[in-house]
Amino acid sequence: MARILSGIKPTGKLTLGNYIGALKHFKDFQDSGDVYIFIADLHALTLPIDPEVLRINSRDLAAFYLASGLDPQKATIFTQSSVPEHAELNAILQNYLYMGELSRMTQFKEKSMHMKENAIGLGLFAYPVLMAADIVLYDADIVPVGEDQIQHVEITRDLVHRINSRYGEGTLVLPNYKINKVGARIMSLSDPNVKMSKSDPKGDIFLLDEMPVIRKKIMSAVTDMGNEVKYDKENKPGISNLLTIYASLREISIEEAEKQFVGYRYGDFKKVVADTVIGELEPFQNRYREIIASGEYLDRSEEHTSELQSHHDLV
Ligand code: TYM
Repeated sequence: MARILSGIKPTGKLTLGNYIGALKHFKDFQDSGDVYIFIADLHALTLPIDPEVLRINSRDLAAFYLASGLDPQKATIFTQSSVPEHAELNAILQNYLYMGELSRMTQFKEKSMHMKENAIGLGLFAYPVLMAADIVLYDADIVPVGEDQIQHVEITRDLVHRINSRYGEGTLVLPNYKINKVGARIMSLSDPNVKMSKSDPKGDIFLLDEMPVIRKKIMSAVTDMGNEVKYDKENKPGISNLLTIYASLREISIEEAEKQFVGYRYGDFKKVVADTVIGELEPFQNRYREIIASGEYLDRSEEHTSELQSHHDLV
């Protein structure tokens, strides 16, 4: 049985990009695979974060996992920091990834670009080491992620090759990333040439946005010259992004989506996209609210975490 592992950082508000690129698909593996999905709270510390915000975000993320259809009877859902082996393995693996390759990571370059050198934490630089530890700790075969995380899975593969050639084939399991054909990179609604990310309120749809807000954001999404609803990333990045959002939520190909909108004006097309996003997020939000209100799994896992912490305090 294949082992599937992925995680999301509990920083900022989750976006439609996180949902389409990753979250929505985790449940697809739980009937046929051995699924491990976690809250990457140690990774959340790589940029400054208020402890209370981290606590709330982590609880929210657990509720999002459940609301997405992940079933705790089938999948193992956990907090990264509650399993000390992530940090232990990180300490070992940091000897096998090198400064040069880490400094070439796109995410590191983007995140540190506007920071003063003496304010860039070592954890941000060594981010992929901890991510590699997350993956190899569970002998994961498949790592479902959005496009921006491919490079981190690739460097994990380099590390596995390095360790296996030094200590013998099969020492570590070689993971593969899995990205979706449609929707691996959702772009900002205000600038469709940049990725939708947790820190871009204008261009983001947040998973907990109210329905009228979602509609307004989609109706005012930046579109392109012309009037044909066609997928053309170069010349029509805005329309292409909306087509991608539509196709991925409807689980159809881009070509099929294009066919559905032949003869549509941009405004009418956007209305259908808005209805589709709302049709997906409204029930998702209802499930999320029920889960938060009942507290069932969340309280149990927090009790477990604090038990673990007090256990560690004693040791
Ligand atoms: P994070 O929290 O930044 O993002 C969570 C997931 O969402 C995907 N994603 C997107 N997909 C499509 N379009 C977008 N605009 C978009 N923005 C984000 C990301 O690719 C990701 O899959 N490093 C990871 C967390 C992590 C992890 C791991 C993942 C830690 N350890 C081990 C897999 C395996 C991260 O920060 O994701």
